[in-house]
Amino acid sequence: MSFQSIPKIELHTHLEGCAPPSFIRGLAAEKKLDISKIFDRNGGYAFRDFDHFLQVYEAACTTLQSPEDFRRLTMAVLEETAAHGVVYMETFVSPDFCGGGDLAAWKEYLAAMVEAADEAEAKFGITLKGIVTGIRHFGPEACKPAAKCAAETFGDFITGYGMAGGEMAGRPADFSYSFDMAREAGLPLTCHAGEWGGPAMVAETIRDLGVARVGHGIGAIDDHALLDEIIERGIVLEVCPGSNVVLKAVGGWDAHPIVKLRDAGVKVTVSTDDPPFFHTTMTAEYEMLHRTFGWSEDDFRAINETALAAAFCDEDTRARVAKRLEPAQ
Ligand code: ADE
Ligand code: ZN
Repeated sequence: MSFQSIPKIELHTHLEGCAPPSFIRGLAAEKKLDISKIFDRNGGYAFRDFDHFLQVYEAACTTLQSPEDFRRLTMAVLEETAAHGVVYMETFVSPDFCGGGDLAAWKEYLAAMVEAADEAEAKFGITLKGIVTGIRHFGPEACKPAAKCAAETFGDFITGYGMAGGEMAGRPADFSYSFDMAREAGLPLTCHAGEWGGPAMVAETIRDLGVARVGHGIGAIDDHALLDEIIERGIVLEVCPGSNVVLKAVGGWDAHPIVKLRDAGVKVTVSTDDPPFFHTTMTAEYEMLHRTFGWSEDDFRAINETALAAAFCDEDTRARVAKRLEPAQ
């Protein structure tokens, strides 16, 4: 079976986290920035644990300084992602890394990303939508301008609001102002939870922030009543197995709860999170799911249908992408 050619949907990526190390090194050289300590001797990103990963991630982001940098990044990422069969991708983008939360600057960065997304759609046949993201460990106040940027630019490209970053910073309810602002503007919501925080964090995220999807969510496996609530509410989990393995949120591929979650009746999807950081691609994720759990084409078709139904996009896009998931005649 060729896993690469299966048409795929990916709901959980971080745009900056998709930047290959060589791309970031190139920008650093252009700008004469010394960020050599974030790379290992093979030129890959080097981090010890999740907190260090976040520091390395932010250091890499210091090289992304202009709309043009984001235009180039978006093009490079979409070309690479499309090569793995992804026909529809959603990506988290943070106003904090695009002009520091300033709305006018954000609109310029956004225009550059949209320009690249349009060009990549025509060239590589991949559709991209953006989810504006607050960075949790920057605090509840810093998430407010991000939510305002989301509310003011909700439309054809920006189709959701979410939160990433250090999950153990504060409780979900501390961020309800931002999520309320985004919801009132009509944006569907997602939030990272249960990557580190266990079932209580997932439960509070669902109840206090009113999200339709949860980023990771794997910690929910330890609470059966919570699983019932997730199923009843139709919450979709954006599961990123390779990320969880590399960051040691789980003990290894064999120990990953994605199958248990799915078999319990939870809607699961598969994504790469930050592929070059975790030495993964969508093809590699599918290969590992096949090798570890015996997943076959039917399993992959089912998760892609779940993902398409949960995608934060308009109905025309959903119908167009559905056609691309159909097997070639
Ligand atoms: N930002 C980028 N990747 C992330 C992850 N896996 N968890 C939380 N925040 C992130
Ligand atoms: Zn993530």
